[in-house]
Amino acid sequence: MKGLRVIHTAEEIRERIAALADEIRPLYAEKNPLLLGVLKGSFVFLADLARALAIPLEVDFVQLGSYGDDTESSGFVRFDHDVERPLQGRHVLIVEDIVDTGHTLRFLMGTLSSRDAASVRVVSLLDKPSRRLFPVGVDFVGFTVPDLFVVGYGMDHAQAYRHLPDVCVVEEA
Ligand code: IMP
Ligand code: MG
Repeated sequence: MKGLRVIHTAEEIRERIAALADEIRPLYAEKNPLLLGVLKGSFVFLADLARALAIPLEVDFVQLGSYGDDTESSGFVRFDHDVERPLQGRHVLIVEDIVDTGHTLRFLMGTLSSRDAASVRVVSLLDKPSRRLFPVGVDFVGFTVPDLFVVGYGMDHAQAYRHLPDVCVVEEA
């Protein structure tokens, strides 16, 4: 039997996002930033962050995948969906659910580097620095988490648990 242990409650997440938004907002006032969500895991965080920022902004998504149904990165990143509009001249804020090995972000930053954005920053709800294989820069982090596989608040294990309001760890009960 698998059980779920809450590590960050919905309330804690809400408060942390409000603080992150206060930090991020001044950098983008009058800049109409593009929040660039990495599907699928970031969809809940992006929705909450966009509303907490409460400034004019646009939203777009890329879909990248490095996971099968396993909890270990395959180390191979697939580009499944690109942005709709050019990034040239835009202030881009990449929105991630979690940075783990850094494979995904390294690949995305590499891809975006040729697109002439005015600026590119990264915000990730969670950071698992103990797992890092590539030194990627994450400008804003919600919470640093230990080396445990987390689910909920948009994040999945084999596509399950994305709807949970809290960030949880799946445990053998
Ligand atoms: P990375 O390429 O190893 O940094 O992994 C990045 C992506 O893998 C994240 O954006 C997540 O979508 C997924 N991922 C990494 N760790 C976890 C986890 O603990 N739970 C759920 N998804 C994860
Ligand atoms: Mg992700």
